[in-house]
Amino acid sequence: MASAGPVPDLAERAATCADRLREAEAVLLASHIDADGLTSAGIASQALERAGIPFETVFSKQLDAEEVAAIAAGEYDTVLFTDFGSGQLDIISRHAAAGDFTPVVADHHQPADPEDCDPAVVREVDGYADTQFHLNPLLEGIDGSSELSGAGAAYVLARALEPEKGDNRDLAALAVVGAVGDMQTTDGELVGANQSIVDEGVAAGAIEETVDLALYGTQTRPLHKLLEYSSDVDIPGITNDENGALRFLDGLDVELKDEGEWRCWVDLTDDERQTVFEALAQRAIEKKVRADRIDSLFGTTYVLADEIEGTELRDVSEFSTLLNATARYERADVGLAVCLGDRGEALDRARELLQNHRRNLSQGIEMVESEGVTKEEHVQWFHAGDRIRETIVGIVAGMAMGADGVDRGTPILAFAEKTDDSNGDEDIDGDEGDEAAEVKVSSRGTPSLTRRGLDLSTVMREASRAVGGDGGGHDVAAGATVPAGTEEEFVALADELVGEQLA
Ligand code: C5P
Ligand code: C5P
Ligand code: ZN
Repeated sequence: MASAGPVPDLAERAATCADRLREAEAVLLASHIDADGLTSAGIASQALERAGIPFETVFSKQLDAEEVAAIAAGEYDTVLFTDFGSGQLDIISRHAAAGDFTPVVADHHQPADPEDCDPAVVREVDGYADTQFHLNPLLEGIDGSSELSGAGAAYVLARALEPEKGDNRDLAALAVVGAVGDMQTTDGELVGANQSIVDEGVAAGAIEETVDLALYGTQTRPLHKLLEYSSDVDIPGITNDENGALRFLDGLDVELKDEGEWRCWVDLTDDERQTVFEALAQRAIEKKVRADRIDSLFGTTYVLADEIEGTELRDVSEFSTLLNATARYERADVGLAVCLGDRGEALDRARELLQNHRRNLSQGIEMVESEGVTKEEHVQWFHAGDRIRETIVGIVAGMAMGADGVDRGTPILAFAEKTDDSNGDEDIDGDEGDEAAEVKVSSRGTPSLTRRGLDLSTVMREASRAVGGDGGGHDVAAGATVPAGTEEEFVALADELVGEQLA
């Protein structure tokens, strides 16, 4: 009998799912196309492999009725969904009830409404749809947006799938990349079930948890660039000011280059780090930066012990960005290969894609800053048209929270035209899309808004359904697809729903 695993409350569900997978002749593994979805697939595929269960992996940017139908039409009797599946139990349950396949779901999104599902295979738990093989933290009172990611759920399953003499704790490294990629940290730290996974990874020697400068890019950004881009903590004269950052560093006793190469934070000695850190804090105090912001400059960081220092893979946050740069651009195969350990061709390709992703993100933010957002009573929104890819508009919306002209105290909605994948090669249904034009909507809130009652998942689902679309997600971050032309009506409905939630 297996141990309780990293998250005891989920042990029984994990064991049930693992037993079902072991019974399968072969498994279709279907996962989502973001950092969390890729790491979920990376974990699940290694666990299946080690357990000797044959499988094939596919990715989808959105599991809709057509995609589930395409899966049902395929030859697999057992389908493992990771990082999605719970929210689509309405569709999935109908196929399951019809005997098309048996779903095994490891997810952390809000499950569908049980009333929309086939009662033959779904029952209600805490208002959510539940099914026989279903591993989701929300069903056990664990928060799916801050305490366990899709990769975390896949990890819990992987631990339950371990062969007798196996040890899947090394996979905790990917689980932490997924959680950080899904922005699950609270004040810079992973908490709850995520922390239990970190602990297992540390014990297994896969993860190092340290206290360090908590800016993005300590592994790969030249020092002055690291400081220039420190937009989470706005330090006047340094943040968004390359020359200012260089002048600040010039005043310190720290070499900026080594044999002609810019040095990064990881290249500094402990003394040099101390020097920079103290001067930075000093400057922030002089410039009257809020104390809690200054505190946040220093915090917990998660490092992958087996990765080479100074690479994107070493720091979990940089790793997750690298993965988003692949799968959100129809190259999930590249990201998955990196998750599975390819440090050659796939990593090179991922790095090229990363340059492109970075450029797109900064252009996206520039667009929002220069054109601004439209303010309604309870929400603010912008429409990117075809200028931001629908697969990254949610990231831009999240980054825009706190940008110039965007109010952090108001949920943001962001529209972008849906473009059907030009190369449908990794799309499950491979549709080339001459369907009616659709628009993607992403929404982002903040923890202080969710504490006041904001639940964007419900807002996205209800407002989109009212205009003929569909959506879901988490309380703090959710998305939907709506028919083109319904945006105004959608905004009005969302505004009303948010108003009710925050009343
Ligand atoms: O589909 P999935 O769950 O993987 O995506 C979660 C999304 O929610 C990510 O894009 C992440 O950035 C966003 N998120 C957020 N703030 C949080 C939690 C999640 O923006 N506190
Ligand atoms: O796409 P975006 O990053 O805005 O997605 C935010 C969250 O909402 C993700 O967790 C995503 O899986 C979820 N989502 C969803 N249904 C949609 C669109 C997004 O559940 N149609
Ligand atoms: Zn996720």
